[in-house]
Amino acid sequence: MNVLVIGNGGREHAVVQALAKSPKVDKIYAMKGNAGIAELAELVNIDYCDIKAVGDWVDSKGDIDFTVVTPDDPLALGLVDELESRGHRAFGPRKNAAIIEASKAFSKELMKKYSIPTAAYETFDDYEKAKAYIDTCDIPVVLKADGLALGKGVLICKTREEAQDGLKEMMLDKKFGVAGAKVVVEEFLVGPEVSCLAFTDGKTMCPMITSCDHKRAKDNDEGLNTGGMGTFSPAPFYGEKSLKEVYEKIMLPTMYAMNAEGRPFKGVLYFGLMKTAAGYKVIEYNSRFGDPETQVILPMLKTDLMEIFEAVVDERLEEVNIEWEDGACVCLVLASGGYPEKYEKGKEITFGDLDQDVVLCHAGTKKTDGKIVTDGGRVLGVCAKGKDIEEARQKAYRNAEKISFEGMYYRKDIGIKYKDVAKE
Ligand code: AMP
Ligand code: GLY
Repeated sequence: MNVLVIGNGGREHAVVQALAKSPKVDKIYAMKGNAGIAELAELVNIDYCDIKAVGDWVDSKGDIDFTVVTPDDPLALGLVDELESRGHRAFGPRKNAAIIEASKAFSKELMKKYSIPTAAYETFDDYEKAKAYIDTCDIPVVLKADGLALGKGVLICKTREEAQDGLKEMMLDKKFGVAGAKVVVEEFLVGPEVSCLAFTDGKTMCPMITSCDHKRAKDNDEGLNTGGMGTFSPAPFYGEKSLKEVYEKIMLPTMYAMNAEGRPFKGVLYFGLMKTAAGYKVIEYNSRFGDPETQVILPMLKTDLMEIFEAVVDERLEEVNIEWEDGACVCLVLASGGYPEKYEKGKEITFGDLDQDVVLCHAGTKKTDGKIVTDGGRVLGVCAKGKDIEEARQKAYRNAEKISFEGMYYRKDIGIKYKDVAKE
């Protein structure tokens, strides 16, 4: 089969590496890809948010058997619907299901209607009403812009003043554009966080192994929010009891709720969860693989990823036995100096002699004049496996030291948190 992968980050490189191992896959195309993906796929330079242009390219190419849509924007814009309407097979939720990530107001209402545990909340599209509500609610409080805002539309406010300022920025100053026209004001939850991803075809839900992200730029979860500075898998505190609770109270009810709403979800459903004193609660849904979670999950997958993708599209996921390796995996993100604020691009990367079983996931890289140079804030993911998280993290750090580019930085504490949280 010839497969097109939409996207250009570390997550897509992880997907491409997994697909390249499949005996079913002959050739991979990537739109737009990066320097790492280019080693395994032919790059196609088309803006994938222009869904008509993508459809036209797939039509004119004529030999694309399957398309994998991973980023949130083209899913929310309806790229899967566009390809299906032209008679092509595509992996990912349709537009009416991708809304579970694209609108926080939608996802919160869904959870309320179907009793799926989440933080208490109110939604506002009127600034004065939201302002009055914030004067009465408990502090800290969380503000969320309704629409997609590149992971930046969430404010954790420790004082009422901070909340009022944040609300004004979202609703009046339009800091997040139209995404902030509607705002969710939410109860602040406390507890360890876990990313639980699952494959689903709308009939069957298959949880993947768990992982934990590190969103802040600096050690000890300080500094600005980023797209993710590193991940590890599995979450140390997530045992059989957790799996059962999350599967029965959150995963299955979400699948049934989307079906009942006439929005069957097919693809990867990402549950961002917090383990609170009152049990697991949903912090957010994503309608796709997470980044950089995927970089620690897919290296542990024993089953053919292409087989899973096809089974999801054909609604026969029930027939596939998905298997994972034992042990652990850690991904360190090597970032450009200054990220997530201003940073320079075009710095040459040297790789050194890496351990053979270390997987590099390219994120912001490109090839110019035969050299691989930086091309984004998050540049590379160094992914290492081990019998446990400690062994994996030592290997990841040992190998990260061999890589360099001007201004490179990474967190030194990936894989340490939650070590002492009881497993259940
Ligand atoms: P999101 O962009 O929705 O993933 O939110 C970013 C981060 O904000 C999450 O990973 C949590 O750490 C934090 N967060 C979001 N909602 C809440 C909440 N209700 N209580 C506490 N922390 C939250
Ligand atoms: N790692 C969080 C996300 O992909 O949104």
